[in-house]
Amino acid sequence: MFRITLLFILSLVALSLANQDDYTGYKVYKIVPKNEDELKTIQTLIKHPQVDVWTSSKLIGHPTVFMVPPTLENQLKSLLRVNNMPYDTLIEDVQRTIINEKNEQAEARRIFDDRSGRISFKQYERFDTISGYLRNLTNLHPNLVKLVNIGKSYEGRDLEVLKISSGGNGNKPAIFVDGGIHAREWISPATVLYIINRLVENYSQNSALTDNIDWYILPVINPDGYEYTHTKFRLWRKTRSPNGLSCVGTDANRNFDFHWKEIGASSDPCDETFAGLKAFSEKETAALSNFALSIKKNVKLYLTFHSYGQYILYPWGWTSALPNDVDELDALGRKANAVSGYKYTVGSSTNVLYAAAGGSDDWFKGVAGVNLSYTIELPGGGSAGFDLPPSRIEEVVQDTYKMVKVFASYIDKKFVNNK
Ligand code: ARG
Ligand code: ZN
Repeated sequence: MFRITLLFILSLVALSLANQDDYTGYKVYKIVPKNEDELKTIQTLIKHPQVDVWTSSKLIGHPTVFMVPPTLENQLKSLLRVNNMPYDTLIEDVQRTIINEKNEQAEARRIFDDRSGRISFKQYERFDTISGYLRNLTNLHPNLVKLVNIGKSYEGRDLEVLKISSGGNGNKPAIFVDGGIHAREWISPATVLYIINRLVENYSQNSALTDNIDWYILPVINPDGYEYTHTKFRLWRKTRSPNGLSCVGTDANRNFDFHWKEIGASSDPCDETFAGLKAFSEKETAALSNFALSIKKNVKLYLTFHSYGQYILYPWGWTSALPNDVDELDALGRKANAVSGYKYTVGSSTNVLYAAAGGSDDWFKGVAGVNLSYTIELPGGGSAGFDLPPSRIEEVVQDTYKMVKVFASYIDKKFVNNK
């Protein structure tokens, strides 16, 4: 009797979780194109406004993974059948996966939660914990770090850049790093926090990097979206600002004022890649870009972390044309990949992934004049990608930090120790 009651209570809990996200019946498919024709079908498919693209590529042999609502399932299957396209169903019911992941997170929290104000890298942290950690660092290392408030998110959260600088007058060649522009890509803020952890808490071993270079680091550009994925809707991607009467949120990585909305961005507020009502309509992208402009003469490298797919991407995202300094961008990307235990594919976003204008990487290069600008798509994991289990955070962030050191020593050699 007791067990039955317990089961009943547990199923009520499961139901109440289910009432928050509702991805019941949503499925996730994976296609690995074998030829140009299959690539073409994929390109058509991912343009459908209700297809949520999780990872994709224009290269033969590279997977495209996407989620579709139940209402689209028949239409999708007949398209695949007509084109004779083989596919795998990675997830039969996204809602179930989300509940599993919630349990994993809860378990990690139960085991590892530590209120010392540090980051364990054994669980995905909430925004308040992240802010508290940054504040903590300013108290513990006042000569090394400084927090710069660059504005507030739509819901009023503070957007804070951690400036790390030792030696010199804080006016050295600089690297700008950010994460969490897309809410659901949880490994991104974790990676950025690990960079902070190494540079600040492991200062003695990394002091060359901060003595010669200033770092500006923003772990979560889109905190409202990030919190929303923790509390309500795990797969939210956009910001949380309203767009008039209909759907909420703008894709912050389509909102930058450089060839805004020209390609690969939507005008429909209900779409995942909605570009916003105008360029820099979002308080988050406006704040980031204003701050970046104020320090642009120092910034030599921009790294923005996303997930997933294992890509090191450089501009342009708005055109298939390549920048004039493509050789340098490409060589540095390859050098970083060479130290990673994962295999990253290196190339221009349009040529490797898909064309999409209004991204932060294009803006940093095209407007702020930061020539070395990269989007890094970190590894995925779990059942289909965003749910990289907490137990794998450490391995991914450590691997990525090796790549970050390659980028940083390049900046050091090129702009500091260039004699
Ligand atoms: N997955 C990222 C996105 O869709 C890739 C961005 C690449 N850069 C670009 N400017 N399109 O936003
Ligand atoms: Zn992303």
